[in-house]
Amino acid sequence: METGLGTGSWLEDTRASYDTVADSYAEQTRHLLDETPEERAVLAMFADMVRVQGGGTVADVGCGTGRITAHLRQLGVDAFGIDLSPGMIAVARREHPGLRFDVGSMTDLALADASVAGLVAWYSLIHVPDDVIQPVFAHFRRVVRPGGTLLLGFHVGDESRLIQGYAGHPVKLVVHRRQHDQMIASLNDAGFAIEACRTLTSAESKLGGIVLARRQATDPAR
Ligand SMILES: C[S@@+](CC[C@H](N)C(=O)[O-])C[C@H]1O[C@@H](n2cnc3c(N)ncnc32)[C@H](O)[C@@H]1O
Repeated sequence: METGLGTGSWLEDTRASYDTVADSYAEQTRHLLDETPEERAVLAMFADMVRVQGGGTVADVGCGTGRITAHLRQLGVDAFGIDLSPGMIAVARREHPGLRFDVGSMTDLALADASVAGLVAWYSLIHVPDDVIQPVFAHFRRVVRPGGTLLLGFHVGDESRLIQGYAGHPVKLVVHRRQHDQMIASLNDAGFAIEACRTLTSAESKLGGIVLARRQATDPAR
């Protein structure tokens, strides 16, 4: 039976869906951080970890309409955003003029090796199928400099769900929920050491998983 959860066209479906909802997404999330002090605290911790490591550029991968990128800039982080959806990037550029936003995919990051001091993937891995997580983490490791900091936000749980509507727009989005153990094992395999894990109750009353990790200097054991 076709469940709609297949992985084949997830990139195209995800891109097209966010292109369709970009303006509505910006409306609905513009003030979300004001309501989530725990999330602001985590972002502040990340900003401080980057700072004590000497600072540098940070990539917000799956930045959407740029609200986290802009918040990190307010915290003194030299952040820029990357997103799969040209529609989301157009809104990010409009909402945050003067900041850098690029179209790109975390499955094929067009960034040089060890070129960023930190990387954030804030609820953007939620659409990545299980069998693509490890290659994505390998990309993250490649672009983050040794000792650099990684921050992940994701939905905690075990199931995957097909979303077919958002703010009155038709979409085809699969949202994957994951457990911390699963993320930690994949990060360790990719060469990241875990610094902190938390579970947050977000404004939407969904469990939010947070992992802060550091890129190890040596290659992961094969
Ligand atoms: C739930 S939104 C989160 C956006 C933003 N991080 C925030 O917190 O507002 C998920 C975002 O991830 C992006 N995304 C999904 N798959 C991606 C990929 N392979 N590469 C880059 N961005 C991706 C989507 O286009 C979307 O903007």
